Amino acid sequence: MISYARQTTEEQPDVVPPPADDHIAPAPRVSVQAFCETVETAATIQAAGEDRRLGKAHIKIQMGGMAAAAEAYRSAPTPNVIVLETDGRTDILAGLDQLATVCDPGTRVVVIGRINDVALYRELVRRGVSDYVLAPVTPLDVVRSICNLFSAPEAKAVGRIVAVVGAKGGVGASTIAHNVAWAIARDLAMDSVVADLDLAFGTAGLDYNQDPPQGIADAVFSPDRIDIAFMDRLLSKCTDHLSLLAAPATLDRVYDFGTEAFDAIFDTLRATMPCIVLDIPHQWSGWTKRALVGADDILIVAAPDLASLRNTKNIFDLLKAARPNDRMPLYCLNQVGVPKRPEINAGEFAKAIESPPVVTIPFEPQIFGAAANNGQMIAEIAANHRTTEMFLQVAQRLTGRSETKKPKGSFLSPLIEKLRAK
Ligand SMILES: Nc1ncnc2c1ncn2[C@@H]1O[C@H](COP(=O)(O)OP(=O)(O)O)[C@@H](O)[C@H]1O
Ligand SMILES: [Mg+2]
Repeated sequence: MISYARQTTEEQPDVVPPPADDHIAPAPRVSVQAFCETVETAATIQAAGEDRRLGKAHIKIQMGGMAAAAEAYRSAPTPNVIVLETDGRTDILAGLDQLATVCDPGTRVVVIGRINDVALYRELVRRGVSDYVLAPVTPLDVVRSICNLFSAPEAKAVGRIVAVVGAKGGVGASTIAHNVAWAIARDLAMDSVVADLDLAFGTAGLDYNQDPPQGIADAVFSPDRIDIAFMDRLLSKCTDHLSLLAAPATLDRVYDFGTEAFDAIFDTLRATMPCIVLDIPHQWSGWTKRALVGADDILIVAAPDLASLRNTKNIFDLLKAARPNDRMPLYCLNQVGVPKRPEINAGEFAKAIESPPVVTIPFEPQIFGAAANNGQMIAEIAANHRTTEMFLQVAQRLTGRSETKKPKGSFLSPLIEKLRAK
């Protein structure tokens, strides 16, 4: 009997762009062979193959549907995944039974079909088909179907990467990354890690008042040692739900990295951490571009000036082209309202970028300066400040989550805190 792993099918195809809580974990290095009946589906699968989440998968597409598949595997071994399109005219069930006799154990089968019928669906499941996707399909439907074969259902929330980068240097990207991560951890109660990718000058350690002996440099300079336990030891705990992968911020070495230098670090963090916030320095190199293109969500921080506007537009255009099946990046304006400084306002930004900023954060030198010098978050020194609310808003938009209800100020909370500390 066939041994395809069973899996429940997804709901109807989503409209693009997907909501922020629709998280699809990237597929591992697997081989996928598709047998299509229509050129539209073939083109869609081709497009899906170019998606960042299928970057590691090898996808081969041919025409001929079920008949071609049965023919192909009579002598050749089967890949990890077979995608079969059926137009409803051929007998898909008989075809699957025939395919089962030549299918290697472990091969999973996804069927793309036009018939929306529960009885058919049940028959497919009985034969071990992993997923049935209703045509016409979008590239994202294909990406989701293939990726979901390899992510355990309970791991669904695991491994979201949020990348934060400045449109130019000094605009406050790191400050915002740290405060937003803090809000994700505290207000949304998601276990999070901030990875400070500015190895020479990063300030995450300063901002969270941490000076750990180990951090991201230990990982990136010893790629062979990277595994979950090793990465775990490199994290320093900032709050209940927040950890830091600190930059050394020393200059005894130089930090020229190859394009894929951080891949293993991100993949490993992803396996256990629900949210990974990347504090990406403002520079354009193979690895910074890769970190942005590969992230689940992106926040660009811009100052209200012409250089930021141009750069934000360029980053948007690049990311939109490289990530056609993803949500648009988000951007925010920061340091708005410096006295006497002429500014480009949010409306003009919105027109040029073709989307409005998620938030417009005011220039508040006193409070931001105090936070930076004390190693505190804005929420810690000014819980009711309007920027605290803005960081939470950005956290919600980036993760697609809303605030968790917690028994704030219960008379038991000091006791609970104490118990937790033990
Ligand atoms: N909204 C703001 N108002 C006042 N100062 C700010 C604001 N945002 C950031 N800063 C300050 O700007 C400086 C640069 O911030 P940083 O986060 O290091 O920028 P980047 O990572 O973009 O280079 C820091 O001193 C920070 O405290
Ligand atoms: Mg920075």
